[in-house]
Amino acid sequence: MAKTDPDETVQELIQAALAAKEMAYAPYSRFRVGAALIDEQERRQTGCNIENASFGASCCAERTAIFKAISAGARTIRRLAVVSDRPDYCLPCGICRQVMAEFAAPDFLLFAAAPDGKYLTFSLADLLPAAFQLGSPSS
Ligand code: THU
Repeated sequence: MAKTDPDETVQELIQAALAAKEMAYAPYSRFRVGAALIDEQERRQTGCNIENASFGASCCAERTAIFKAISAGARTIRRLAVVSDRPDYCLPCGICRQVMAEFAAPDFLLFAAAPDGKYLTFSLADLLPAAFQLGSPSS
């Protein structure tokens, strides 16, 4: 397990993810997910899952939050908390892990949280060892 942040800081991010979960659009799965992140400028961004009648067009909460942050000018993500309605931890899917690999800051940590505030901490290497890379991105 990676070294983590003060619990109070993590709990604030988890609360933001729980609030974002309330915005989930999940009429097909009924599985609501919320995410909250902190970028390299300490700005916070949130996201929820957004489903589609054509299931493959759906977007996970983590990617919603990351794409919102990047489109607002962020270039790296330092922290990301994810929550769902299930009583235990919600772990990110493989596509989201690949997106995290693209934008993770060197000290990136993911907090997979339960609604009661308990959480597991993961580094990028924990989530996606031996990640695919296409050379060095230029911007
Ligand atoms: N989902 C997320 O938003 N994040 C995850 O980490 C796992 C799955 C969403 C996608 C879909 O809307 C629903 O949960 C069921 O898979």
